[in-house]
Amino acid sequence: MRLQLLIFVLFANLVISRKHYKGRKYDLTLFVRNHNVSDATFFRLVGVDNTADFNVSAGNTFEHTFEVRRKGFWTLFVEFPGDRYAKSPRKIISRDSYRKWVMEVYYYPGAVGFSEWHKLSRRGEMHIHG
Ligand SMILES: *[C@@H]1O[C@H](CO)[C@@H](O)[C@H](O)[C@H]1NC(C)=O
Ligand SMILES: *[C@@H]1O[C@H](CO)[C@@H](O)[C@H](O)[C@H]1NC(C)=O
Repeated sequence: MRLQLLIFVLFANLVISRKHYKGRKYDLTLFVRNHNVSDATFFRLVGVDNTADFNVSAGNTFEHTFEVRRKGFWTLFVEFPGDRYAKSPRKIISRDSYRKWVMEVYYYPGAVGFSEWHKLSRRGEMHIHG
């Protein structure tokens, strides 16, 4: 009888801790640094259970902290007048990965240039690629 109770308690703990682990939230902070895109109507970040629409003018950086529960893809869209848009390469970010990522955005005639998502440096500065 005591053994059965012990086994039940162990099992219950296992189930609870698994649930807790799966549902654990974490913060992911993404930065979009707009170098020289001036005619976008808006920007949209789409990721795991999250969507953020925002405006960021040329020369400025958008920053947003998302609450995330699992690993998944993150993509940036830049929307232009007339239903035109540009889509960044997707990046997989997992819970165990780094928590702060930056993407740089450039405008070229008829095209948008996206950097890779890269880590925010320890000093908090943005690396500028390209
Ligand atoms: C972005 O700017 C446009 C034009 O000023 C505005 O219509 C739109 O609501 C803004 N979007 C967001 C998400 O702030
Ligand atoms: C935007 O910046 C990039 C990188 O400096 C440059 O190559 C490009 O020509 C610029 N675009 C415009 C439209 O000035």
